[in-house]
Amino acid sequence: MDGPAVEIEYLKKRYGSFEALAGVSLSVPRGSVFGLLGPNGAGKSTMIKSLLTIIRPTECRGRMLGRPIGDRATLGKVGYLPEHARFAEYLTGREVIAYSAGMTGVPVRETRGRVDRLLETVGMKAWGEKKLGTYSKGMRQRIGLAQALVNEPEIVFLDEPTDGVDPEGRIDIRKMIEGMKAEGRTVFVNSHLLGEVEQVADQVAILSHGKVIRSGSVAELTGTGKHFEIRTLGPVPPALRERLESAGIQVAGDRIGVPAKDAGEVQSVIDALRAAGIVIRELKESRQSLEELFLSAVQGARQEGGQP
Ligand SMILES: Nc1ncnc2c1ncn2[C@@H]1O[C@H](COP(=O)(O)OP(=O)(O)OP(=O)(O)O)[C@@H](O)[C@H]1O
Ligand SMILES: [Mg+2]
Repeated sequence: MDGPAVEIEYLKKRYGSFEALAGVSLSVPRGSVFGLLGPNGAGKSTMIKSLLTIIRPTECRGRMLGRPIGDRATLGKVGYLPEHARFAEYLTGREVIAYSAGMTGVPVRETRGRVDRLLETVGMKAWGEKKLGTYSKGMRQRIGLAQALVNEPEIVFLDEPTDGVDPEGRIDIRKMIEGMKAEGRTVFVNSHLLGEVEQVADQVAILSHGKVIRSGSVAELTGTGKHFEIRTLGPVPPALRERLESAGIQVAGDRIGVPAKDAGEVQSVIDALRAAGIVIRELKESRQSLEELFLSAVQGARQEGGQP
């Protein structure tokens, strides 16, 4: 089937007089990993819950897998890992996944095989018969991912999948997301962990105060702001450091970060360093990281909105 996996034309959600989503539109290409980024309270979970009809949107126009958002049959082709997912402590990992299989209509004769495969995929084979009460946070999160996949969904919604997971576990989860994509699924990931999303997402949207303030591929979004890094032999003396910082240049020890359109614009900084007798070891051009873009976009949106 053609067309985007999710196409939101207009989504608004009010909680009383508070507008959590202010008429958002976005499009998620089929078979891609889509990262919805935004600070705490931006409306990320509200967006997923609206799409899955867990909460009732105030106004919603759009399509999921070619059908109107909220269509029952389409929701059967979707997997979901809720934020702060909590499953019953007295169930085993295997039982949690099997329960999800039952809820999503997986045929009973297929359940055992699928649960076995999923326990293996999420690295929990040795723990399948143990109760959740004995699991670490990271293990619970792995079982959460497994239960989200049990109905072999076309789209998987993951709300903060690496929440409470250690660095090694995060790498595993990233690989699992890549695996889901390799199997042809569309993955919609909510996160405030930019570095992680940057590594795995094809497309991202940045949400702030219920509005999408940027969207595009990571390369498109980060390619617009160039950045140069100068490394010096020894740290920059405090007086010069202050002068540079007041011009919007970041100084951290022997590293100087210069936002600039081209190498020509960096020359005045080099001149100032040379005039102070500082030896330059290295000059390199780097892309703006998603984190820098995120911070400047969110701060810009706040200022426009008159917020602190
Ligand atoms: N049931 C509710 N009633 C009233 N306000 C709510 C409700 N649920 C969420 N909100 C508000 O809506 C806004 C968006 O919340 P949401 O949980 O979608 O944010 P989020 O981007 O997922 O944040 P986080 O990164 O902390 O998970 C917040 O200001 C929140 O306080
Ligand atoms: Mg959330």
